[in-house]
Amino acid sequence: MLRACWLGSLLHVGLARDDWLPESPAEVRGREACLQRFKETDFAAENFQSSWLDQDNKMAFIECLYRLRTRWRPREKAVFAGGIHYPTLVTAHHTWPPVSTSGAKLCWLDQVGVHRNNIEASECCDTSYGPQGRTECWDEYFTYELCCLGDVNLAEMPHYFVAPAFDINVGNAVRQLGTFDLGQSYALQTLCGSGDVVIDVGANVGGFTVPLAERVGPDGEVHAFEPFRKVFQHLNANVALNGLGNVYTYNVALGASKAKVPAYSPDLTNFNFPSAIRVLDQFKPEAAVKEANLRYEDRQETLNVQPLDEFVFSRRVQLIKIDVEFMELQVVLGATKTIRENKPLIWVENEAFFDDPANLTFVDTMYRDLQYVCSAVARLELFCVPGREEPGGQLVQDERLIPAGFRRVFRHLTGEYKDMHLWRALSEVDPSFSSKI
Ligand SMILES: *[C@@H]1O[C@H](CO)[C@@H](O)[C@H](O)[C@H]1NC(C)=O
Repeated sequence: MLRACWLGSLLHVGLARDDWLPESPAEVRGREACLQRFKETDFAAENFQSSWLDQDNKMAFIECLYRLRTRWRPREKAVFAGGIHYPTLVTAHHTWPPVSTSGAKLCWLDQVGVHRNNIEASECCDTSYGPQGRTECWDEYFTYELCCLGDVNLAEMPHYFVAPAFDINVGNAVRQLGTFDLGQSYALQTLCGSGDVVIDVGANVGGFTVPLAERVGPDGEVHAFEPFRKVFQHLNANVALNGLGNVYTYNVALGASKAKVPAYSPDLTNFNFPSAIRVLDQFKPEAAVKEANLRYEDRQETLNVQPLDEFVFSRRVQLIKIDVEFMELQVVLGATKTIRENKPLIWVENEAFFDDPANLTFVDTMYRDLQYVCSAVARLELFCVPGREEPGGQLVQDERLIPAGFRRVFRHLTGEYKDMHLWRALSEVDPSFSSKI
């Protein structure tokens, strides 16, 4: 409801990326003072006995933390180059396109995360209460203009990412979009909600791990599996950079059974496509360059392969995302117990299905062994849903398990994404939001 008026206003004002409210001189001064404070603060000074740990200084520190994440943070996205053994790019204060709907929710929370003055968020922007809606909703960080008139760049929490500079695929997309694929990110977000357990198989640098972790929130869990050591390190970095407390990472290749396999890892010192490197049946190094433009490191490393069924999850698994470069059948064969017991929705990359002629081994196995029905949802991507028996005995996807917004997300994102369509797509993530458009 609340976001209906928020979005309604957005559509009305025709938000463009440079429509941000001008920064006041006080905001600029405040930001600079806070940045200076962080440079100077030394909690360890005088053997932890200095005034930096006095109540006043601690309060000012907290205040700066809060303000720098909201109104006072730098508005422009920035990219920094780093790296000692291989080059990295650090993307700072990314807010556009939005990574998740959760940032905007901050408009309605006070500093400690409680609904402001117990007012229903839907009322805050309602101008029948006055030209600024319910004034009790606002303070100097979160204003009517910010939350209701479309200065949503500030309502979206800033995100931070690191990726190998030469990664032309996932790292490149994460730097641009804050995710690997916007449509898939929002679609996956429709498939889970607050408190859910999600499994991300082939997490890479965390292009979906981060948005999914925000979507399921502090009471949910994302279990992210990534076999390649250095890619895994970037995954962890991105989880930490975004202060996400609900992600569990595993430096493991999921497969049909436990094994240790020698494999080449992606070379991060050259332009490369790290996400396309397989764990099993790898090309020989020369063939990899020739056939797939992939570059390996000189030496192999030993990768750990384990079946998903060996892992124990605290609660029901709602969603599994699988992107494992031709190993998806093995992943599923090692996960039959988990899938039977939890009946999760499954999003899976399966190139074989899209080959000409199609190889239906994966889809047939899902149908025969697990009573799942898979259908194409994007290029190379399948969506697999527990089947429901039709009168003739045929299984069809149980539509009751698919949130209404799931398919609509894509409709808004065809071609170049545009602001309005982007907001509509994002709105599909939250049904209460979408029903008002
Ligand atoms: C089809 O895919 C399966 C694995 O999913 C593979 O074992 C099989 O060899 C493939 N068949 C053909 C004809 O390529």
